[in-house]
Amino acid sequence: MADKLEQVYINFQKELAGIKDLKSLQDFEVKYLGRKGELTIILRSISDLSPEEKKKIGEKANTLKNEMAGIITAKKSELEMEKYKELGESEKIDITTPYPRRVGHVHPISKIRKELEELFKSMGFMILDGPGLESDWYNFEALNISEHHPARDSQDTFYIADDPEWLLRTHTSPVQIRAMQKYGAPLRAIVPGYVFRNEATDASHDHTFYQIEGLMVDENISIANLIAVMKELLKGVYSKDVDVRLRPGYFPFVEPGFELDMKCLICGGKGCSVCKHVGWLEILGCGLVHPHVLESGGIDPKKYQGFAFGMGLERIIMMRYGIDDIRYFRSGDLRFLEQF
Ligand code: PHE
Repeated sequence: MADKLEQVYINFQKELAGIKDLKSLQDFEVKYLGRKGELTIILRSISDLSPEEKKKIGEKANTLKNEMAGIITAKKSELEMEKYKELGESEKIDITTPYPRRVGHVHPISKIRKELEELFKSMGFMILDGPGLESDWYNFEALNISEHHPARDSQDTFYIADDPEWLLRTHTSPVQIRAMQKYGAPLRAIVPGYVFRNEATDASHDHTFYQIEGLMVDENISIANLIAVMKELLKGVYSKDVDVRLRPGYFPFVEPGFELDMKCLICGGKGCSVCKHVGWLEILGCGLVHPHVLESGGIDPKKYQGFAFGMGLERIIMMRYGIDDIRYFRSGDLRFLEQF
């Protein structure tokens, strides 16, 4: 029996040397390892042997089987490679050319953010960053929103369970304080970044969205400065002069405070579904920095004044491109993203 095995292996090796294509390799595999293959037949007849021999021959036959299977697999890849090479040469295909990969592109939020950063840089503003996980003090207290202030209701957020002193910031305004503490006055900065709210989401509200905060502190700052910068901002986004109006708006960290509306670009102010038939769209909150807030930032309110604004970037982008649902931005839906 052992001799038979040897013989099969010798034949196997001899025949293998003559195999030059995949089809013959397949037949070859069937001949030796197939259901009626030479080695299979030997393996089957092992059951007739004495227990001792069964063990000895069985082991040998199995080792041989594995070896032969390995050799066949190796030969197969070798022949496949040759085949592809030939194909490449005959059809002038360069098989070393990399497989075409999909290249992504910049997300609409990043695109407009970058544009606005350039615009503000040209007006002498720095671009600052701040933490998304913020302390109660920076997010509320230092901005004139004390513990039981009703303004906290409209900015409910996600708190850290073990320590309610820490929360996901509800706006980029805490960075006003951080900037004043770090750089003092005079100061010009914008702060792009994510903010979070405990929000039942709908077409115009999301629990996570993007804001750009702006802060300018100097001597003799007035509302005229604020309006001038806001007009530049909107001109930058929409590449044309945009009509704006200020309405009184309440934010505890500015005094006076305003909501800034822009005339709807879709209907030119006549009223349409995008502006909910008002003709105007609420774009951002702004105002002159409250003296308490300057003090929280370590700046003397008798010497300096400032203006601040905070806008939701998605809303501005929605207006620019006519997007009707804020939730598209973070949906990861390529059909949406590929349009920009
Ligand atoms: N932080 C305010 C908000 O998120 C916006 C704002 C910023 C208003 C700066 C006034 C001044 O709603």
